[in-house]
Amino acid sequence: MGPPVEPAGIESFYLEDRTIEPSSGFRERALISDPGVYDRAEADWEGFWAVQATELLDWFDPWDTILEWKLPFVRWFVGGTLNVSHNCLDRHVAAGRGDRVAFHWEGEPGDTRTITYAELLDEVERFSNVLESLGVTRGDRVAIYMPMIPELPVAMLACTRIGAVHSVVFGGFSSDALRDRIVDGQAKVLVTADGGWRKGAAVPLKANADAALGDTPSIDHVVVVRRTEADVDMRPGRDRWWQELMEGAEPHRAPEPMASEDLLYLLYTSGTTARPKGIMHTTGGYLTQVAFTHKYVFDLRPEEDVYWCAADIGWVTGHSYIMYGPLANGATGVLYEGSPDFPSRDRWWAIVEKYGVSILYTAPTAVRTFMKWGTEEPAKHDLSSLRLLGSVGEPINPEAWMWYFEHIGGGRCPVVDTWWQTETGAIMISPLPGVTTLKPGSATRPLPGVAAEVVDDAGSKVSEGGGYVTLTRPWPSMLRGIYGDPERYRDTYWSRFEGRYFAGDGARIDEDGYFWFMGRVDDVMNVSGHRVSTTEVESALVDHPSVAEAAVVGAKDATTGQAIIAYVTLRAGYQPSDEHGQSLRRHCATRIGPIARPKTIVFTDDLPKTRSGKIMRRLLRDVAEGRDLGDTTTLADPAVVEEIRARAQSAPPED
Ligand code: PRX
Repeated sequence: MGPPVEPAGIESFYLEDRTIEPSSGFRERALISDPGVYDRAEADWEGFWAVQATELLDWFDPWDTILEWKLPFVRWFVGGTLNVSHNCLDRHVAAGRGDRVAFHWEGEPGDTRTITYAELLDEVERFSNVLESLGVTRGDRVAIYMPMIPELPVAMLACTRIGAVHSVVFGGFSSDALRDRIVDGQAKVLVTADGGWRKGAAVPLKANADAALGDTPSIDHVVVVRRTEADVDMRPGRDRWWQELMEGAEPHRAPEPMASEDLLYLLYTSGTTARPKGIMHTTGGYLTQVAFTHKYVFDLRPEEDVYWCAADIGWVTGHSYIMYGPLANGATGVLYEGSPDFPSRDRWWAIVEKYGVSILYTAPTAVRTFMKWGTEEPAKHDLSSLRLLGSVGEPINPEAWMWYFEHIGGGRCPVVDTWWQTETGAIMISPLPGVTTLKPGSATRPLPGVAAEVVDDAGSKVSEGGGYVTLTRPWPSMLRGIYGDPERYRDTYWSRFEGRYFAGDGARIDEDGYFWFMGRVDDVMNVSGHRVSTTEVESALVDHPSVAEAAVVGAKDATTGQAIIAYVTLRAGYQPSDEHGQSLRRHCATRIGPIARPKTIVFTDDLPKTRSGKIMRRLLRDVAEGRDLGDTTTLADPAVVEEIRARAQSAPPED
């Protein structure tokens, strides 16, 4: 993950010239091996997506119009009706595949459960009735704050079955973050658990939820799954046990026919302000593109493959590639609750061996962690079942790519580096493993049906060189807006370049038209593959009574891609100290979640500002990355820089 890109003068620090062709064995068996697919899709891209929607999904009513658009607003498959849980469950069971395993679930303590499609359908129908008995109807929002246990997919699919909108909040978020998301979406019901297991300890989800629920008047009921057996407070009349409700639930509920453009879910993501954005995804287009990309990017053979996306369902990767893509395609997946180093650092490789995982999808930050732990961990296990590897969430550096390819994939598995965002809903730029010549470190090129271009500051296309990543026309799984804020939607994504979606990423295009992503160009950090807004962390810091002013930057980090560095000026009467730094770090974790805890807090008497009073973030980033500062003449007080530099060098290390 590099620093924000300066498109005018992009330097490529790393010239990567290795190429890896698909092996003839892989190509022969691949679902797509004909490069002509790109041109055919381009010739009629709307028609191309309509073919995918027809082939991959079951519709109750056909659509009249493939696409209606008046940017930034679009509607796909207008007039069509379908139901997501029907596509993910009923139709597979009806076709005689009810005994196929949907998920091999493994809890962190080692407990396991095998869930077939028929069993999943049964639980989803029951929970649909539970939700309705609690007053949830079509269009209502349901907040979900859960560990990675089977009840999480059940809750999500039950929402889709009755036409309710889920808003999943990652279980690592704090109670404040949960409260803000519940309030923004005005959720009626919260589904949570007494806790979940993480690194051998129980995460107190219900207790966190209770702290949020003091300020969430929209919530009528809380459903609590028993998982850790922790003692929890159950408020009479509001809080109900999942297990008890399910025992008494009616077993059948038909899937509700939903319009293609009905809201499917909200998922909050960070932007350049302190307030997370409720990204809206709708039904038909979203399911089409996640099913298409899951099938062809991962070259899925649902009868044979065991597919493991090792993300958390609480992020978009989990929504699209643990839940909806794989289930729509009838895949057999792995669902793992816990951490990769519990009870030991070979846990993932033990899981791959145990279930015979053939496709593994994870993030560069995980790959770099495994590199640090050493090749002996994967070498303890038989990984010969693997045939394809995927990467997502941040740029994968060529060295990590090669390590993944060699030490996990045994040199035989293509690595698909997939670029996309919460907003794009599905993979946009990625190899097709039976077609594309791979270059380690490049996400290669836009998928068939997708159009992306790199442009310069003026919005002109760059055919070779660096610039801003834009998408030049609608795609089926694109966000339909920011919940409750159409203006922010327009401003954030559609105002920077006329007629183009602005992704906020920089990339370089090479002589073959391949994309080399270089990180964010806005004030959004990418920490372990997760977007964290600098402003959000700053506002968490200034909300602490001791803090007068704060500036947060992302600095390059060998494992997490970027690390959060916070420069803090204290109010009069407060003294900098290691303990104080630790308490500010904890404060950020409490306000947002552990992902937002700064790696380093640098105390300073002043922040470097331009004459117009803007904080000089680039300078702070340079300081944090230990580079030369360059020109500092525009500083209001150049002495500050020296002081910051000195403080940065003596700042206390992280926990
Ligand atoms: O900066 C890009 C980076 O992650 C951002 C999207 O983050 P989020 O919405 O949390 O979704 C992550 C999972 C899709 C992008 O703007 N990013 C994601 N995938 C890649 C990537 N950067 C480079 N290469 C990728 N493969």
